[in-house]
Amino acid sequence: MSETNHDSMFGKLALDFGFCTEEELAYCKKQLRERAKEDPATLEHVLISNRFITPNQAKRIKQGTKEGTKEGKDAAEQIPGYKIMGKLGAGAMAIVYKGKQMSLDRIVAIKILPRRFSENPDYVRRFYKEGKAAAKLNHNNIVGAYDVGEAGGYHYFVMEYVEGKTLYEDLAKGKIFSEQEAINITTQVASALAHAHARGLIHRDVKPKNVMINSAGIVKLADLGLARDASDIELAKSEAGKAFGTPYYISPEQIRGEIDIDGRCDIYSLGATFYHMVTGKVPFEATTPSEVMRKHLKEPLVPPDHINTSLSAGASEIIEMMLAKNKNDRYSSAEELLIDLDAVRRGEPPLRARKKISISDLQQLQNGESIDMETEEVSEDQLDMVRRYKVLIVILSSVIAVLVLLVIFLFASQ
Ligand SMILES: Nc1ncnc2c1ncn2[C@@H]1O[C@H](COP(=O)(O)OP(=O)(O)OP(=O)(O)O)[C@@H](O)[C@H]1O
Ligand SMILES: [Mg+2]
Repeated sequence: MSETNHDSMFGKLALDFGFCTEEELAYCKKQLRERAKEDPATLEHVLISNRFITPNQAKRIKQGTKEGTKEGKDAAEQIPGYKIMGKLGAGAMAIVYKGKQMSLDRIVAIKILPRRFSENPDYVRRFYKEGKAAAKLNHNNIVGAYDVGEAGGYHYFVMEYVEGKTLYEDLAKGKIFSEQEAINITTQVASALAHAHARGLIHRDVKPKNVMINSAGIVKLADLGLARDASDIELAKSEAGKAFGTPYYISPEQIRGEIDIDGRCDIYSLGATFYHMVTGKVPFEATTPSEVMRKHLKEPLVPPDHINTSLSAGASEIIEMMLAKNKNDRYSSAEELLIDLDAVRRGEPPLRARKKISISDLQQLQNGESIDMETEEVSEDQLDMVRRYKVLIVILSSVIAVLVLLVIFLFASQ
């Protein structure tokens, strides 16, 4: 399964290659939106199932997204003021090179948008948006943004070079992280998110490939390419119905194409990443992206401590709360999540995850529906209070009993 699900890019390429018509594409996009809730799918799948493109053509389209390597290198070499030192990697939309910024004599990472995407104003807009969004942020756990521009018809984005690896590389090798290691990484990403969310920016694509770890063990959240202002409703509307992000880590509300996405979608994706770190598995696995997405929407989560039995109940509760299907049942903010992460790191219970009645439960109660209540662990303080009340009730009932007896005795003796 492909790691990214950029339906709009796939559609554009299907058109560019002449594999389908504008009408067929529009028809499939509409179908995709309509089925997003019940039976989510990718544009690729819908185009194939309508027999507008063949599976072989789909393969050629995906190949096309990787094609930019050579042209990208040529482009990178044209950027004034930088010397290209080698390729760092390639994602679905861009190629990243290692380079040297000559004026400051520092090593940087340069992201180049392939020319075929430069022709699409929508992609170019999103590319510059990444630069601007990242430039607003200044945090030790966020990859710093340095420069953005255009050279020889190619758009580029210069950023802090992270010497290290992505979390994806470790997970792909099958590494299972210890609870403390995973809490440490999750805490650093949550701090980055708290910083971005406070500035109205939602990442929308938190996943192991975008979590880099440098040689000093500092975690750097990369790729704010899909970030946008929380208030940018127009952009949200234009993206409605398209499942951006990666199916393994994507939130249910993003799958449904909801337009009022907030920071809680990043908390879900970080929860999926946390789950993967401690269990060695993604929360929902299937052979097709649509099946993965259906599971995000409908399938109950296998609690992480059922897979990794050495996981503490507290860590498991945090992950389950992060991965709640209803965003109202998740942590309301990255700060709130940080408090629980810190508690579990210190061996204490995650108090926020243990609050038993959630907002959605209250709504259910209001509608006259019953709710499942878990038995709550009662603290010593609470037990103390119950004991004191018991004593008070016994004293009161004894006083009442004596009074009643006295009254009866008085009446009887008259
Ligand atoms: N600032 C950086 N410093 C060092 N290496 C980087 C940096 N940014 C990206 N890379 C490397 O380049 C690769 C490609 O990054 P890019 O953001 O284009 O795609 P991705 O996040 O891996 O995948 P996708 O496009 O599917 O989201 C990364 O996987 C990483 O190995
Ligand atoms: Mg990336």
